[in-house]
Amino acid sequence: MMSMKLIGSIWLVMAMATVAQDSAPVLDTSGQALQSGVDYYIKPAITDNGGRFTLINRNDSCPLYVGQENTSGPKGYPVTFAPFAEGETVVRVGRDQKITFSASTICVQSTAWKVGETQSETQRRLIVTGIDENESRPTGNYFKINKQADLDGIYNFEWCPTEVCPICKFICSDVGALVENDKRLLALDGSVLPVVFERA
Ligand SMILES: *[C@@H]1O[C@H](CO)[C@@H](O)[C@H](O)[C@H]1NC(C)=O
Ligand SMILES: *[C@@H]1O[C@H](CO)[C@@H](O)[C@H](O)[C@H]1NC(C)=O
Ligand SMILES: *[C@@H]1O[C@H](CO)[C@@H](O)[C@H](O)[C@H]1NC(C)=O
Repeated sequence: MMSMKLIGSIWLVMAMATVAQDSAPVLDTSGQALQSGVDYYIKPAITDNGGRFTLINRNDSCPLYVGQENTSGPKGYPVTFAPFAEGETVVRVGRDQKITFSASTICVQSTAWKVGETQSETQRRLIVTGIDENESRPTGNYFKINKQADLDGIYNFEWCPTEVCPICKFICSDVGALVENDKRLLALDGSVLPVVFERA
């Protein structure tokens, strides 16, 4: 008969294996692990999917939104990653990260990514910039980077901040593009945009 202790150990081993698998470093286009606090450009993995990630003036007002350049030409703005896990210096797959554009703007808001309001036509939640005012659980500011299937170096963003709040129930979603008035915005609740990271 299997003892409770043995069953316990089996569960522990399985749990540790899951953590190890999920915690591989995210790699940039030269195969190096992404470091916290270092600038990276984010580009679509597939061409004809818009250009690099940038700040978008959606409607002649602040705050600015997270979006893409229209074409592959312009550089856009690089971002830095800040892992939620204390003391972590490597950006890991499936872990919560705060993502902030390295840019100064005329808006008072921070350039950190945040889940914003829904777009009225599509009911998709837009990614805006600013600080989540919920100081105890700033879940709106944390995103995960997941690996795309079996493709090395290709990832997508997901909003599902289970590290920031393990007991919260989220409507988790991948991040994709949404075109509004010829502007490419990023949004949840629809398509998925595969991306690569290029050290700035
Ligand atoms: C800008 O915002 C105003 C007020 O919310 C709205 O009436 C107008 O349609 C918006 N314009 C665009 C281009 O989204
Ligand atoms: C993309 O093109 C549209 C329409 O010309 C323009 O309003 C928008 O600002 C452009 N986006 C960027 C990031 O330059
Ligand atoms: C802040 O987050 C906690 C945990 O998710 C939630 O219970 C609380 O309602 C939030 N407060 C506000 C003002 O949104």
